[in-house]
Amino acid sequence: MTDSPFRSDVLAGKVAFIAGGTSGINLGIAKRFAELGANVGILGRNPEKAAAACAEVAAASGQGDGSGKAVYRTADVRDYGAIRTAMEEVRGELGAFDIVISGAAGNFLSPVLGMSANAFRAVVDIDLIGTFNVFRGCHDLLNLPGASLIAITAGQAEHAMAMQAHACAAKAGINQLIRTLALEWGPDVRVNGISPGPIADTEGMARLAPDETTRAAHYARIAMKRWGTCFEIAEAAVYLSTSAGSYVTGAILDVDGGSSVGDASRLDTGKGLA
Ligand code: HXC
Ligand code: NAP
Repeated sequence: MTDSPFRSDVLAGKVAFIAGGTSGINLGIAKRFAELGANVGILGRNPEKAAAACAEVAAASGQGDGSGKAVYRTADVRDYGAIRTAMEEVRGELGAFDIVISGAAGNFLSPVLGMSANAFRAVVDIDLIGTFNVFRGCHDLLNLPGASLIAITAGQAEHAMAMQAHACAAKAGINQLIRTLALEWGPDVRVNGISPGPIADTEGMARLAPDETTRAAHYARIAMKRWGTCFEIAEAAVYLSTSAGSYVTGAILDVDGGSSVGDASRLDTGKGLA
């Protein structure tokens, strides 16, 4: 295990539901939660992928001793009825949710003039409406008080990016949904966001930086001069879901190596600024 300040049983007895938890960053969170003692339900669309991911989560549980429970469901987050049914079933198996993560997303590079209305809508539906559906649908399934809701957002919410109009609009909406729900659902529920920077070996990076030129451009912008890891995002989720984050709500936590602070490539003269 990578070094961590968290106690190895810090999530013992907790139940987490993770929409989009069948790959990448969200699967990293699911495995880390399981390692730290949580029982975990994950959801995606593809049944084979979900079953394989669930086996990974189960294998990680209880520090790898398999003592925790892991279950999966398949549903499209755009379908409120389907996501609600999936969450009810997982609650029936694992108990009321202490933690809910909304991380399902769709993305592709395209200028606005290369997008149909349906293409724009597809991303807004998955990311923004999907997050509404997951959070709206989970409220009466939560273990209250003290539940932690986290949406996985992105820097595009605050910083416009060409070829990303759909994701910029969707993630900006998510940030405002997070803040609104924090106001409406406090003090019983904390609602926060995590905004990852470019994370190594993920579908998101494969889509947004498909070749060496775009990878180099992304890399140059990062103040810390390295890609992030799924583990680093998972640790932020643990922080927000434990007593460490007990007075944090309505926050968007940038876990991005400084990418959102500014464009480090503009200062990178090669003359030893770092
Ligand atoms: C233009 C495109 C397109 C492209 C799809 N479309 N790809 N338009 N350029 N490259 C259009 C289609 O033609 C269609 O419009 C519409 O989008 C919907 O496409 P479908 O394939 O019918 O939709 P669906 O099956 O629902 O798939 C949704 C998807 C898909 C978003 C298009 O890629 C998907 O499911 N992605 C999930 C996985 C993913 O994207 N992971 C990365 C998340 S990472 P028409 O008009 O023809 O009907 C991420 C990174 C964040 O978000 C930031 C990192 C820094
Ligand atoms: P990923 O591997 O593609 O994961 C996406 C997950 O969402 C999968 O489990 C996928 O399962 C599920 N999903 C997608 N559409 C769905 C739908 N309509 N209904 C239900 N589930 C759906 O992505 P990732 O790169 O790890 O990104 C994860 C999150 O981090 C996203 O919110 C993304 O915007 C954010 N983010 C990523 C980066 C990065 O560097 N990767 C940076 C900033 C923000 P199926 O394939 O089975 O549908």
